[in-house]
Amino acid sequence: MAPLYRLDGRGPLQASVFFSDFARRAFRILVPGAHVFIATNPLLSHLVYGPMLERGFEKRGEVIRLVQTLRGGDRPKNAHREFADVTVMPRSSWEPWGLFRKPCEGRVQDNLRKWKTGGLRRVSAELPFCDVIPSAPTRPEERAISPHPSLKPQSFVRQVVRACLPLGAGIVLDPFMGGGSTIAAAVSIGYESIGIEVDPQFFDAAAAAIPALAALPGNGKASSKIGSNAGLDFQRSCTAAAAGTVTPC
Ligand SMILES: C[S@@+](CC[C@H](N)C(=O)[O-])C[C@H]1O[C@@H](n2cnc3c(N)ncnc32)[C@H](O)[C@@H]1O
Repeated sequence: MAPLYRLDGRGPLQASVFFSDFARRAFRILVPGAHVFIATNPLLSHLVYGPMLERGFEKRGEVIRLVQTLRGGDRPKNAHREFADVTVMPRSSWEPWGLFRKPCEGRVQDNLRKWKTGGLRRVSAELPFCDVIPSAPTRPEERAISPHPSLKPQSFVRQVVRACLPLGAGIVLDPFMGGGSTIAAAVSIGYESIGIEVDPQFFDAAAAAIPALAALPGNGKASSKIGSNAGLDFQRSCTAAAAGTVTPC
């Protein structure tokens, strides 16, 4: 069972310590009403969410990325014939993104006026930001541009990044930039952004890949009726792109 709980080689206790430290630092630098999205998975999310709450963040829900991964769904190892009708754990079909907010200063409207935070940007006048987003694994053309093993797809990340600045003002920070998908999404939308990545090779690769990722036309046709974000016009955003700031740590 232990390997299931590994997080970049860390055990559950170390993961809690890591996220407790992250939550403390994030709380210190964020303005009131700022939102934090944390991509996780159904096995580990409690290790991430607990420390965020203990440090004073409010849980504002979870965004469900509907995506089929290869995790789970197997029959018992070395006994799959004997237990042909058994699945050891569910085949994973979703990815939770914890959504947290630093408490607002006063009412949401006061906070929006003063700090430009506190809410999430609507998809359109008719459509609020919704918490179930149909997605797909990252496309091969995106992986060819940025070969990071955990690269998230632009079609999904652009929807989340757009939502996190309710008035389109402020700075998007990704302290675990990886292949640069968040920063590329911010660039494509025209948001100011800062990316931090501890691995110098990943950092250099992301910095090189971000302009090309950001210039990709949106494939966020946003299919579905559930949480449909069909109002988004990523292609329009791309042409209006401003340069994101990528900062090595
Ligand atoms: C899951 S990946 C992020 C993938 C990214 N969302 C994308 O779509 O490409 C996490 C990244 O965080 C980096 N990382 C881990 N610990 C870090 C730390 N303390 N400071 C900065 N980056 C860190 C890892 O090197 C890894 O590239």
